[in-house]
Amino acid sequence: MSSVKVTRASIFSLKISEIAPDKSISHRCAMFAMLADGTSEITNFLRAEDTLNSLEIVKNLGATVSDNGVTIKISSDGIKESSEILDCGNSGTGMRLFCGLLSSANGHFVLTGDKYLRRRPMKRVTSPLRDIGAKLDGRDNGDLAPISIRGSSLKAFNYESKIASAQVKSAMILAALRADGTCTFTEPELSRDHTERMLKGMGADIKVDGLKTTIKPMTKLLSPLKIRVPSDPSSAFFFAVAAAITPDSDVFLEGVTLNPTRIEAFKALERMGADISYEITDNKYEPIGNIHVKYAPLKAITVEDNISWLIDELPALSIAFACADGVSVVKNAEELRVKESDRISTVVNGLRDCGIEVDEVKDGYSVKGGKLQASVIDSHGDHRIAMSFIIAGLKCGMSVSDVDCINTSFPNFFELLQKITKVEFTSL
Ligand code: S3P
Repeated sequence: MSSVKVTRASIFSLKISEIAPDKSISHRCAMFAMLADGTSEITNFLRAEDTLNSLEIVKNLGATVSDNGVTIKISSDGIKESSEILDCGNSGTGMRLFCGLLSSANGHFVLTGDKYLRRRPMKRVTSPLRDIGAKLDGRDNGDLAPISIRGSSLKAFNYESKIASAQVKSAMILAALRADGTCTFTEPELSRDHTERMLKGMGADIKVDGLKTTIKPMTKLLSPLKIRVPSDPSSAFFFAVAAAITPDSDVFLEGVTLNPTRIEAFKALERMGADISYEITDNKYEPIGNIHVKYAPLKAITVEDNISWLIDELPALSIAFACADGVSVVKNAEELRVKESDRISTVVNGLRDCGIEVDEVKDGYSVKGGKLQASVIDSHGDHRIAMSFIIAGLKCGMSVSDVDCINTSFPNFFELLQKITKVEFTSL
């Protein structure tokens, strides 16, 4: 288990083209290629633990995968039963989407993950999938992994989800593609929509009308994917916050997905006063381009809408709250409690340890801007907590323990960070 110590940063001006490729899109590339008639070609696939686990699972399910270091080619002639236990590692996206994909496949499958993932709720997908005839089970009556799946025929459904979750929506869309009739899925707020965009781009009959998605079952295999995965805005956001809290600094983030469901945190930072501009340079499946973030004094804001668009970025945004003038408030964010860690308590306790006044409630917290102080923070195995408090260290110096989890999403984080500050590693 590694720990790091970072020192205070001085002014920087940085152009970054190597932000890690998007995690959500990379998972989907690996999985959706199994639904295609022909070879999918993927460049800039995220080579991080979470997404490499999905790629390994796809191989275990019988796909042929070749990788020349630049392009990953995936072809499949149908999902095959595996003699292996399918290990999703730390990834909730991996486990929940595979539940949807495998529910209708011919055979028996077992999905598991690391100690953190085995504590996270799976009923949000196993329950609606069971309702349409899927045979899934796990500990606590199907809520906890390992999850076993016996593929079966699925009934058409009209499902109204109480949770705005792209993972739940995607699992149900994948199930709908093999159901016995037209299905609808309605969510309370729009969650990230890569699944709909990518599957439509592959030829699936999917219509989106506001919060309602209508899916017709596949009558034939889909067209293969030809995609360059854009950079991940959730990873890019750590460097956006770094620039926004370091006087006279700026960062130019290249080739990021500008999908509106993914850049809400940049909009929040803009509302706080940061100087941010966007430039669309490409549009394949979704808009892609550059984001330029410049320092400006920050003021407090309230965040209460479209929480699913901010769910991965709230820890880093909270570091900006700690540097802003006034009290920032986060509401309606109970979903944060079931992420890689309970992100309400890990953010609140971490900020408190850094000398910031914070208040915790069931569905959120408030942060009074102040002077961040150096501390020793435990990541609780959550990559986004680790990276957020390392960025806080740019203000005041910081030690963060258990940072290996950063490899789940952003393996070159430290390489980029070293361009703006000194990083010392210690291994325990
Ligand atoms: C993801 C959806 C989000 C997000 C996760 C990736 C996805 O989870 O937190 O990191 O790829 O669908 P929920 O939509 O379930 O909150």
